[in-house]
Amino acid sequence: MSMTADELEKRQAIIDACRRMNALGINQGTSGNISLRHDDGLLITPTSVPYDAMTPDQIVFMAMDGSHASGQKPSSEWRFHRDILKSRDDVDAVVHAHPTYSTILAIMGMDIPPVHYMIAAAGGDSIRCAPYATFGSAELSEHAVRALEGRLACLLDHHGMIAVGRTLDKAMWLAVEVETLARQYHGCLQIGKPPLLTSAEIERVRQRMAGYGMSEG
Ligand code: 13P
Repeated sequence: MSMTADELEKRQAIIDACRRMNALGINQGTSGNISLRHDDGLLITPTSVPYDAMTPDQIVFMAMDGSHASGQKPSSEWRFHRDILKSRDDVDAVVHAHPTYSTILAIMGMDIPPVHYMIAAAGGDSIRCAPYATFGSAELSEHAVRALEGRLACLLDHHGMIAVGRTLDKAMWLAVEVETLARQYHGCLQIGKPPLLTSAEIERVRQRMAGYGMSEG
């Protein structure tokens, strides 16, 4: 397989990020998947390959119509990766995982409300939970794209979470931040009903973060 240095670098960056998901404890087994915009399509992790064994040539290049070289096996979640990258020109990287606390809230069908100002890093005053649909389905992809409107992260009911960004590093950073927020919210719920920040305050934080070079894609 011949490829440019840029493409090889992106493929390796995807593998490195997958391994980082395991090191950070935000992934369970091989259930996470990552994609990165490339040329007029995307590079996406192969389905069910353990990250330690993943090699750059196994990363699949997919055109925006979903086609790819025969013999290659893209992630079973390629539809939402493709649909997010197709519909969002502010996004170049998509990270999906099943981190424990995000998934606990997702199982309960709960959005994450503004319990902490860092929720602004996900683009607004909540992280929505998309309704359940079978993994890999077009329906799940539609739900995910809708839950991500005006946002950079969402939960997936009875499933996990998605974080997106302008770069893979930003999407990875946000994935970790979403899991932190989920953990904090879960902790608060053990004590009672947490008081929330107002939407106006989250908007103020969002603007301050932009000046700080911290958030937004
Ligand atoms: P892969 O098909 O990418 O291995 O992942 C399965 C999964 O995460 C379903 O949500």
